[in-house]
Amino acid sequence: MSSEKWTLASFALTFLILSLVFVGNVDGALKKGKTCNKGWECSGSIFCCNQTISDLFQVYNFEELFAKRNAPVAQAVGFWDYHSFITASTVFQPLGFGTTGGKLMQMKEIAAFLGHVGSKTSCGYNVATGGPYAWGLCYNHEMSPSQSYCDPNYLYPCTPGVDYYGRGAIPVYWNFNYGIIGDGLKVDLLNRPDLLEQNATLAFQAAMWQWMNPKKKKQPSPHDVFVGNWKPTKNDTMAKRVPGFGTTMNILYGDLVCGQGDIDAMNNIISHYLYYLDLMGIGREAAGPHDILSCAEQVAFNPSTSSTS
Ligand SMILES: *[C@@H]1O[C@H](CO)[C@@H](O)[C@H](O)[C@H]1NC(C)=O
Ligand SMILES: *[C@@H]1O[C@H](CO)[C@@H](O)[C@H](O)[C@H]1NC(C)=O
Ligand SMILES: *[C@@H]1O[C@H](CO)[C@@H](O)[C@H](O)[C@H]1NC(C)=O
Repeated sequence: MSSEKWTLASFALTFLILSLVFVGNVDGALKKGKTCNKGWECSGSIFCCNQTISDLFQVYNFEELFAKRNAPVAQAVGFWDYHSFITASTVFQPLGFGTTGGKLMQMKEIAAFLGHVGSKTSCGYNVATGGPYAWGLCYNHEMSPSQSYCDPNYLYPCTPGVDYYGRGAIPVYWNFNYGIIGDGLKVDLLNRPDLLEQNATLAFQAAMWQWMNPKKKKQPSPHDVFVGNWKPTKNDTMAKRVPGFGTTMNILYGDLVCGQGDIDAMNNIISHYLYYLDLMGIGREAAGPHDILSCAEQVAFNPSTSSTS
């Protein structure tokens, strides 16, 4: 149906060289100040003093957002669940994921992150029952990959016989990306990329890792641009990159989605985010104006040199 979505994120070849020196850090970033312990979900960080994700986003919210994920036509029936999402987030909530800035910002960040997830894993289409946005978490891996996504790489050489097609909640493509994210999560994804289609907690963690880390040093993470941790430079302003949801797409997908005008690939991600804001009772108005939501006119942080789709 919509397997082209699964090829969109495969542009990352250009990040190859510089990303070799960058290994994301999931445990060093606890800020100074009062730390709190919210038990297993969030502990030892100032961010845990605020409400945690499960205070604001409960099982019924998850079921509403991903209402069709266990429909008979879904590919990943029985795979994704709320518990995996919350368990995955215990690594990232102490770093500010879904715990930054107070209730409204926290709920918006959850909706934004899940907007990416929903769009990238959807098997919805315009006349689908329940509407096109009710079908997030339908897939957990790319259907009919056109190649094995193996690129020669010293640090992260491909394991013979293993394919690096798109897997996970924000699909990971290519050996080097599996290698980098595996290092970040301390799981050997280079040898076992299949773990992302066998373990939903890990599949969510790989997505959260991408949300919480930049693609290259000195660039912001999607989390940073979304919650307001990032101040655009003069270059960013000239490239029309502004804090907000639009720039999260720029970081994650570059010019496959951004700087191409009002294309479907971009609008589909935005629409999932807005749909989730509505379902979570915040309302899509809270997302702000279109120029913050969109990346239609933005120049990619990391332009791709070759088209991979
Ligand atoms: C906690 O929430 C308050 C608002 O309720 C916000 O001002 C503050 O920045 C939040 N703390 C952190 C660490 O984000
Ligand atoms: C799934 O992954 C999580 C996170 O790495 C890990 O804690 C858990 O043990 C894994 N579950 C299984 C069944 O391997
Ligand atoms: C700004 O853009 C120019 C021209 O593309 C580039 O040479 C320069 O390194 C950039 N500066 C920063 C801080 O990224």
